[in-house]
Amino acid sequence: MNKKTVFVTRKIPGTAIEMLREHFNVIVNEEDRPLERDELLKGVEDVQGVLCQLTDKIDDEVFEAAKSAEIFANYAVGYNNIDVKAAEKRNVIITNTPDVLTNTTAELAWALLFTVSRRIVEADKYTREGKFKMWKPELLLGTDISGKTLGIIGAGRIGKAFAAMSRGFNMKVLYYNRSRDEEFERELGATYVSMEELIQEADVISLHIPLTEDTKYLIGEKELNLMKKTAILINTARGPVVDEKALVRALKNKTIAAAGLDVFENEPALEEGLIELDNVVVVPHIGSATKETREKMGIMAAKNIINVLTGEEPINPVL
Ligand code: GLV
Ligand code: GLV
Repeated sequence: MNKKTVFVTRKIPGTAIEMLREHFNVIVNEEDRPLERDELLKGVEDVQGVLCQLTDKIDDEVFEAAKSAEIFANYAVGYNNIDVKAAEKRNVIITNTPDVLTNTTAELAWALLFTVSRRIVEADKYTREGKFKMWKPELLLGTDISGKTLGIIGAGRIGKAFAAMSRGFNMKVLYYNRSRDEEFERELGATYVSMEELIQEADVISLHIPLTEDTKYLIGEKELNLMKKTAILINTARGPVVDEKALVRALKNKTIAAAGLDVFENEPALEEGLIELDNVVVVPHIGSATKETREKMGIMAAKNIINVLTGEEPINPVL
C-alpha cells in the first residue's frame, strides 16, 4: 500500500514530526517563516493530512487545492484561522490542541498581570541603565493584586484555570460567559455577572474567549470608558477581540491604568503609538510557548492525523 503523505506548514519543536514519519511520507516546510499563499496552496496538493498553524489562513480555496486531504490538524487551541464551515462541507476533519496548553496560557496571563502591576519591564530597564543608586520611597510604585476584584471574560478551560490560580491572592472573582457554570461558581466562589457589571467592577479584566464574529471588538471604546481608571486589561486570547486603536487611546489618556498583551489585532503589526506607552507590556503571542507544552501540542496534532489517516476517529475534532 502506498504511504499517505502529510504536509507540515512550518517546522515545530519536539517529536511530533518523527511520530508522523513512522507512518507517512512527511513534507515539512523547513524555512523559518510561514508559507506564502501560493506555497501553501501548492503544498497541500495531493496530501492526505496537513499539520497547520494559526498563521496559516485555511479557507475554501485551500480546501479546493487540498482535494485529497482528510484532516487539517491545527497546532493551536484557537482555530479562527480556519473556515470550519467550508471544511465541513468538504468532509475535511479539523482538529485543535485543547487542554495541553490550558495552564501554560493561564500562567502567561498571570505573568503579564504581575509584570504590569509591578512595572517589572520599566524596573528592569531602570536597573540595567544604571539608574539604581539608592532605595527610594517613591520609586516605581505599582499596584496590589491581592484582595482585588478579578473579572474573567470567557470561562472556558483557560479562563477557569486563570481564575483558579487566583486562589492564593484572595480575590473576588466575577465572570462573564455565554452560559453559567455552576460548578465553577461553587468551586471558586465566582459570581456570574453581565459584561457591563464585570467591566465596571473589576480591577483586573482578563480575556479568555475565542475570536468569532460575535467577539470581534468585544472590548471597544465604550467598554474601555466603563472600566475603572485603575483597571488592568490582560489579553492572551486573540487580538481582534479588542479594538486596538481604542485601547491605545485609553492607555494614552489613562482611561484605564495599564494593559498586558500577548496578542494583537493585526499581528505581528502593532497599532501605532502602542509601544511608545509605558503602561503596556507586550509579548509576541507566546501563550503556549513552553518546551513541555509545545511538545504536547505537537504530539496531539500528530495523533489526530495518525488516527484519521488510519481510519480511526480524531481525538480532538472541533465540531
Ligand atoms: C494559541 O494562540 C492557540 O490558540 O493555541
Ligand atoms: C481553550 O482551551 C479554552 O477553553 O479556554
